[in-house]
Amino acid sequence: MKHSQLVVTVARDTPASEAVGIPVTSDKAVPAELGVSRAQLAATGFDGKVGQTLVVPSSGKTTVIAVGVGEGNSATAHDLRNAAAALARAASKHVSLATTLAGVGRDDRTEVAQAVTEGLMLATHRYAALKSDKSFASKLKSAVLVVEAKALGAAANGSRRGTVIGEAVCMARDFANMPPAHLTAKLFADRAQLIASESGLKVEVFDKDKLLAMGCGGMIGVNRGSVNPPRMVKLSYRPSKSVLKGKSAGKGKKTSLPHLIMVGKGVMYDSGGISLKPSNPSHAMMKADMSGAAAVLSAMSTLKALGCKNQVTAYLMCTDNLPSGSAMAMGDVLTMRNKKTVEIHNTDAEGRLILADGLSLAAEQEPDAIVDIATLTGACAAALGPKMSGVMGNNARFLSQVKEASKAVDEDVWELPLERSYRRMLDSYIADMKNVGGGEAGAITAALFLDEFTGGYPWAHLDIAGPMWSESDAGWLQRGATAYGTRLLVNLAENFRRR
Ligand code: BES
Ligand code: ZN
Ligand code: ZN
Repeated sequence: MKHSQLVVTVARDTPASEAVGIPVTSDKAVPAELGVSRAQLAATGFDGKVGQTLVVPSSGKTTVIAVGVGEGNSATAHDLRNAAAALARAASKHVSLATTLAGVGRDDRTEVAQAVTEGLMLATHRYAALKSDKSFASKLKSAVLVVEAKALGAAANGSRRGTVIGEAVCMARDFANMPPAHLTAKLFADRAQLIASESGLKVEVFDKDKLLAMGCGGMIGVNRGSVNPPRMVKLSYRPSKSVLKGKSAGKGKKTSLPHLIMVGKGVMYDSGGISLKPSNPSHAMMKADMSGAAAVLSAMSTLKALGCKNQVTAYLMCTDNLPSGSAMAMGDVLTMRNKKTVEIHNTDAEGRLILADGLSLAAEQEPDAIVDIATLTGACAAALGPKMSGVMGNNARFLSQVKEASKAVDEDVWELPLERSYRRMLDSYIADMKNVGGGEAGAITAALFLDEFTGGYPWAHLDIAGPMWSESDAGWLQRGATAYGTRLLVNLAENFRRR
């Protein structure tokens, strides 16, 4: 199944198309083919800043769109991703588009073509399945990046990578935008199974009986209030021999590949459980409380196509969180996969309970590092807002790899301290810990809770409660679920190293 509607290709000559995008800087000469002067552009308010576009009146059949790319030739791949997104919006009434945008900027052509492809795809995407009138969606179906002959190979490679990643992001957005009844844990696991077989991953699905037998008390406890059974999905990627060719595997010696494990929070709908959330319409977005799991699944789906050289394993922890006569209560004590006991003080702090089992299973495999991604705390969203996720962890070297990945893909993170002295806020008089701290430092106490299940392996936790959702179309974001973290995880998986 396709999740993006836009096909992006690369060519040397400008093809016939309904719309054409022409990059315009804020300071250099205005390209002659635009047929207007700098003064005329300026009079409309267009001054060439990144994000600006202007449809230039022309007598021909083709709609000509000026696309701002900022000063000189200094645009970065990130600038051009945003410029491409703005272009896709300006061209949304047309079916076909051509642009020379991938020829501009200071970064290498592969990187730029990838970013432009991503920008075009992400700003064209809508979750349109449930709208009768599809006219709110972009009409754009094809885009051609026109580049110099000598950059053709590099740009084609970048565009191919951008297409793989863009499709993954659109897929994660579709999953997170789907209403709870359309995507139960079982249905999500079924889809994951299909995606795994299409993208060269090994997949194992664990149902309620298996989770019980494995002692996954967090998954079972959170699921108790629901009539929909839970699912845990394990995905495994191993690079093929041909991908590793050229990489020294030691002369005949069996050396292990760097092994990264990703764990995603997959709460299909978070009502809060017995600690019911107030009936606020904004909680409709709690259908997207599985955004972490969607990002992990999507990122995993790209690894073979991108030729990732590391071993990557993933756990999707999927259940909803609902109140009922059988739901877990405050005061209940759960025994998690690693045998630690947790006293429930708030059933709305459910994400950490299911991640606890996933992290425990990850640690059992003795990986080189673990990253979890979760819409975990309102506290993190309150502290950092929608632009960035919070990141915490137990290992400075691995955290710096996560930050590098974040920088490389323009998905911002900000580190909060894993302040060990706050661990006492989780002390329970009856069990090893409570599932919530006091009222303060909610994002940090959540991370300290998770830390209990990592077995001391290098670990980073991404709290994406803020950036998982967008209230508006902006840059490469579309209103609704953002799939934030998908591109970060892809980059991390590709560039991960032991130290
Ligand atoms: N899924 C929510 C966190 C959340 C809030 C995500 C807003 C996205 C946007 C999580 O399960 C939750 O309810 N957390 C509680 C924890 C509290 C009870 C300690 C919260 O943040 O209020
Ligand atoms: Zn909750
Ligand atoms: Zn939640």
